[in-house]
Amino acid sequence: MASSVRAVVLAAGKGTRMKSRRPKVLHEICGQSLLGHVVQTLQRCEIADVRVVVNPELHEHAEALGLRTVVQEPQLGTGHAVQLALDDLPKDGVAVLIVSADMPLVPAQLLRDVVEAQRTEKAALALVTARVPLPSFFGRIIREGASLSRIVEQRDATSAQLAIDEVNAGIYCFDQAALRLVIAGLKTNNAQGELYLTDCIAALVREGAHIVTVEAKDYRDVMGINNRVELAAARTILQARILERHMLDGVTIVDPASTYVDAAVTIAPDTTIHPQTHLAGPSSIGRGCIIGPNSLIANSSIGDRAEVVQSQVKDSIVGEGVTVGPFAHLRGSTVVEQVARVGNFVEMKNTRLGRGAKASHLSYRGDAEIGEKTNIGAGTITCNYDGKKKHKTKIGKGVFIGSNSSLRAPIEIGDNAVTGAGSVVLHDVPPGERVAGNPARALKKKGAAEPT
Ligand code: UD1
Ligand code: CA
Repeated sequence: MASSVRAVVLAAGKGTRMKSRRPKVLHEICGQSLLGHVVQTLQRCEIADVRVVVNPELHEHAEALGLRTVVQEPQLGTGHAVQLALDDLPKDGVAVLIVSADMPLVPAQLLRDVVEAQRTEKAALALVTARVPLPSFFGRIIREGASLSRIVEQRDATSAQLAIDEVNAGIYCFDQAALRLVIAGLKTNNAQGELYLTDCIAALVREGAHIVTVEAKDYRDVMGINNRVELAAARTILQARILERHMLDGVTIVDPASTYVDAAVTIAPDTTIHPQTHLAGPSSIGRGCIIGPNSLIANSSIGDRAEVVQSQVKDSIVGEGVTVGPFAHLRGSTVVEQVARVGNFVEMKNTRLGRGAKASHLSYRGDAEIGEKTNIGAGTITCNYDGKKKHKTKIGKGVFIGSNSSLRAPIEIGDNAVTGAGSVVLHDVPPGERVAGNPARALKKKGAAEPT
């Protein structure tokens, strides 16, 4: 489809019904902005040439997403937006697919269908219609007999027209020459004083042009988000679709009603997600994992057969066979290597816990590196902050940190060293040494003379 159509995404509207300082199309559902969802759907259709009509507030965000933009200021309506987009398009007769950025649920297949209908019918316009429950904000499809005669906006409609349940979805594939012919003649004689793109339909009918309609199978597919009630409703629908896809791909979701999985999350088969669990951002969950209940995993990767129970994992990596929780908090680029254990009330920030190491109870590790098979006793704290700066703690392999030890960073504890319970360790401990006390001192080796 790549070269046969160009796409224009309308995103410049003020979105006043959202009552938000943030541009409407940057509001998110399932971890992605409304605009992001639509752009991704166009990418799925392999449409390479996409222009987004934006307002100045949105401009920077859209450019940051790598999108080609056309700025519309002031916003004089959907027809005006398309006029500006057309000024930016090469006059090459390639068909123009127009979609709104506030329709995150549109399936790629519906876009392919409308493009295909315009092409095969050699139509001036193919547009998507839907049957919706009333009342509705959508523009109404007015027919004379079977043929389309015009679209009347909800705000301009008579009560008889408002009873029509066939509506304009806001998805159009125009023959470029036909669009150029009618777009210049739009007028603002309507309730909003705007240039309505939808008035192109009556103009094309007057020209005797061929117009075809493609009916959406499910009206929810073309739902436009105009306020926060619709935003929440769209989220619920999209969430159900995402969960269904994972379940069909072999993931057990115990309670879909209380499970939240963002669009960009991947989950391997035979993993079980327990209730009240949120998987956010681009996260990946391995095979055979047990996640939840009551857990949040955001922007993180979880290895095969890991368990994360009643815990939060943010911006971190959890290796294969690791167990986390209950009530653990991993954040700030923490890495937990294979089969390590992170138990209850353990917080780790920017810390690497080596393979097979254990931190089973009640402790804080910040900016630390902990070697293989080291055991961190209950109540251990890496004192990484001196009030001004953060410092590193390095703990070797096979170390035993006694319960309630405080390790004042910067500090290094060598391989196989031991700290006694309650130690306050202020200085580096060489490999194999045993220290205890406050401040911690080396313990006497058996048979050694008393220090003088
Ligand atoms: C529009 C259609 C309506 C259709 C509905 C489908 C018009 C006049 N009406 O109504 O028939 O049923 O979509 O959802 O087209 N926008 C701009 N610049 C502007 C105005 C709007 O880029 O000056 C963008 C908006 O950001 C939005 C899209 O165009 O993404 C549609 O605008 P919106 O105000 O939401 O139109 P609706 O009232 O929903
Ligand atoms: Ca809309």
